[in-house]
Amino acid sequence: MPHIAIIMDGNGRWAQARRRPRLFGHHEGVKTVRRIVQDARDIGVKYLTLYSFSTENWNRPRTEIRALFDLLKRYVEDDLEELHCNNVRVRIIGRQDGLPDDILRVINHVETRTRENTAFSLNIAFNYGGRDEILRACRMAIKTGILPDDLDEAKFEQLLDTADLPEPDLVIRTSGEYRISNFLLWQAAYAELMFTDVLWPDFKKSDLEAAIESYFARNRRYGGLDTADVA
Ligand code: IPE
Ligand code: IPE
Ligand code: MG
Repeated sequence: MPHIAIIMDGNGRWAQARRRPRLFGHHEGVKTVRRIVQDARDIGVKYLTLYSFSTENWNRPRTEIRALFDLLKRYVEDDLEELHCNNVRVRIIGRQDGLPDDILRVINHVETRTRENTAFSLNIAFNYGGRDEILRACRMAIKTGILPDDLDEAKFEQLLDTADLPEPDLVIRTSGEYRISNFLLWQAAYAELMFTDVLWPDFKKSDLEAAIESYFARNRRYGGLDTADVA
């Protein structure tokens, strides 16, 4: 099964369409997260990466930012034991610098608690930006004194937040926007992309299944030729 990464977009518009505040949409979005994590496990997916707060989302009103932080916190606190019992490993990828202490404590707790788990890998991109991640990795490389000629892709990948995770095979974006918005810039270099108009709170198991089916129907060439052409 492919490693699936999802840009969960459209919570605000989902709420607006119901004449409700944006926060109502974010609450509904968390319900979708719960369902989709379960659905992905049922389908046999092993790696799921969810984009939940970008380094650019700091451009939103302070109240919305704090509400998004609280939602992450509550999700992790409420679901941690169940995830742990189901042998799920949770990683939070993104910049930790600048996050409030209560959020840092929750991140540290969930990662430590689930470190040994092996059945399913749930990665939450929080305060995540691909450019920021690459820059942090560059700084780390320089600090460790690695010689320029010794730095190769494999070593560089070990400095990214996703060290030890396979690359995403399939990136799905909901809500009808056709952009990457700074998500997994390095890792998704050869990912298959899928865009759907469905708003994140409406995203269902059947949408996930349809995306996976379309993924398997594609021909990943990685710059080479089709096996049929190589005769
Ligand atoms: C996605 O929903 C969640 C986050 C980016 C935090 P949005 O809040 O971006 O919803 P829209 O795009 O405004 O509808
Ligand atoms: C991307 O959604 C980030 C997340 C889903 C967390 P945005 O709503 O922030 O993206 P833009 O601003 O439309 O590109
Ligand atoms: Mg959006």
